[in-house]
Amino acid sequence: MNKTLLSALLTLLLLLTACGTDKNSPVYLRKQQFKEMLRTRESLQGMLNGRLSYDPDTFLKTAQALENQSAQPWQWFHEMQVADDSKAKQDIWQEAQAFRAAQDELTKSLQALTVAAQTKPKDKSQLTPTLKGVEQACASCHSRFKVE
Ligand code: HEC
Repeated sequence: MNKTLLSALLTLLLLLTACGTDKNSPVYLRKQQFKEMLRTRESLQGMLNGRLSYDPDTFLKTAQALENQSAQPWQWFHEMQVADDSKAKQDIWQEAQAFRAAQDELTKSLQALTVAAQTKPKDKSQLTPTLKGVEQACASCHSRFKVE
């Protein structure tokens, strides 16, 4: 290999490393989606714990947004992707049914949250148990399918 080619290759390698993450990779896309879900869940929590002001209409809209966002990440789990920058466990693909069941648990918990939010309670504490149910659904999938 001549020197020019070698240095060209080295430069390319450096460029690739500098660019870092591939923004079209399934791992990147699902992580972005999970982060968005986390931010939305934090808004809901904030409205209940007093960090944000509670408004029943906003709460309902935010709960519906979380329901929509939560349908998204699974499309980026189609092919097995246990990359260095991923915390996904192999069990996701080895026990696909259990992984799907954990998604269904989240869907159910979010439906319960939306139903509760639709009553637009004046007393926001009435929403606490159903939001806890959602947190539980997130956490139980993580403890089973995500590396700590
Ligand atoms: C059915 C399983 C499942 C459910 C339910 C689930 N997650 Fe996750 N979550 C994962 C897996 C798997 C990863 C690891 C993805 C990776 O690193 O490739 C993850 C990663 C994350 C991350 C880290 C993203 C990053 O940048 O590394 C956040 C934040 C997150 N989830 C938030 C949530 C929230 C909030 C909920 C509930 C509203 C939720 N998740 C529900 C499976 C789940």
